[in-house]
Amino acid sequence: MIDNFGRKINYLRVSVTDLCNLRCSYCMPEQGIDKKEHKDIMSLEEIEEIIRVSAKLGISKVRITGGEPLVRKGLVPMIKNVSGIDGLKELTLTTNGILLKDYADSLKKAGLNRVNISLDTLDREKYKKITRCGKLDDVLEGIRAAKEARLLPIKINVVLIGGFNDDEIEDFVNLTIKDDIEVRFIELMPLGEASSWPEESFISNEEVINKVSRLIPMPFKGHGTVARMYKLPDSKGKVGLISPVSSHFCTYCNRVRITPDGKLKSCLHSSQEINLKGANTRELERLLIEGMMSKPSKHNIGAFHSTQTHRNMNEIGG
Ligand code: GTP
Ligand code: 5AD
Ligand code: SF4
Repeated sequence: MIDNFGRKINYLRVSVTDLCNLRCSYCMPEQGIDKKEHKDIMSLEEIEEIIRVSAKLGISKVRITGGEPLVRKGLVPMIKNVSGIDGLKELTLTTNGILLKDYADSLKKAGLNRVNISLDTLDREKYKKITRCGKLDDVLEGIRAAKEARLLPIKINVVLIGGFNDDEIEDFVNLTIKDDIEVRFIELMPLGEASSWPEESFISNEEVINKVSRLIPMPFKGHGTVARMYKLPDSKGKVGLISPVSSHFCTYCNRVRITPDGKLKSCLHSSQEINLKGANTRELERLLIEGMMSKPSKHNIGAFHSTQTHRNMNEIGG
């Protein structure tokens, strides 16, 4: 489907739960969130049907997100069903990695192609601090399990936070020397919990280039690309810079999102949402087309540090 600004919309991000087994301080309140009633979240069957209809409308890539998607019961069988849908070329998942050691193998067998793993620090104490409860070793084991299960290529998402992990930029970049992984630095977005954070926490991805001048830019791939790619000389892996605040990539945006309560969001930062819950197949088709065609040309974070979405990231899925 081509939207009003000539962008091909072929990527659907589905957040299957707003619950998470971590409490990253930029994403979730410390006390967590109330568990929604069953009737207020989409069933896995409803999600499957949305993906099936989307595939007919030209969606060829689906990413399962959360919260933490692996805490949703029944996810693996759902992935198995979804992986067989005609027209889907890529089925992926973004996870904090804590449960990956238990699930990597069965996810691969169910037809998942690859995983992106969130990891903001390589220091055990700092990991516990930022996630408020997580164990770094669980994630490292999860990364190993994903490699063994061949959920490749593995991408590591690092949210760059001034005063917290900007001293680890070089360590993260160096992970790509011997390992064929992609380390991606993401600029902290002023959303939800992070919207009230002090100015110093928000640093530009330029800091990565300033700190590691050996990084060589790779050719830009255009449509659907959120990361600008770099490489160290002779490294096996790559480094990506996702810079939604300092230089938005909306012109190349190819995605729409579904929240766990069944709302279609055509832009991460917009407050506009279309309710899909309860819709039958024909209505779904109409609503999905309406959502894709109403995608705004660009978001407006940056200049005034404002976003229009009232949701925390755990409800949108990145
Ligand atoms: P690939 O398919 O591997 O390229 O993954 P991806 O970058 O689409 O997915 P991932 O879930 O790893 O996204 C990484 C992070 O980039 C998200 O969690 C967000 O923080 C940010 N991000 C992804 N898409 C968008 C977007 O459309 N707008 C903005 N502002 N940020 C985004
Ligand atoms: N800004 C940037 N990235 C964020 N994430 C969560 N909240 C924010 C934010 N405010 C990231 C997580 C994970 C992905 C799902 O979204 O770290 O990589
Ligand atoms: Fe959970 Fe991801 Fe939010 Fe951290 S950033 S609390 S891992 S949803």
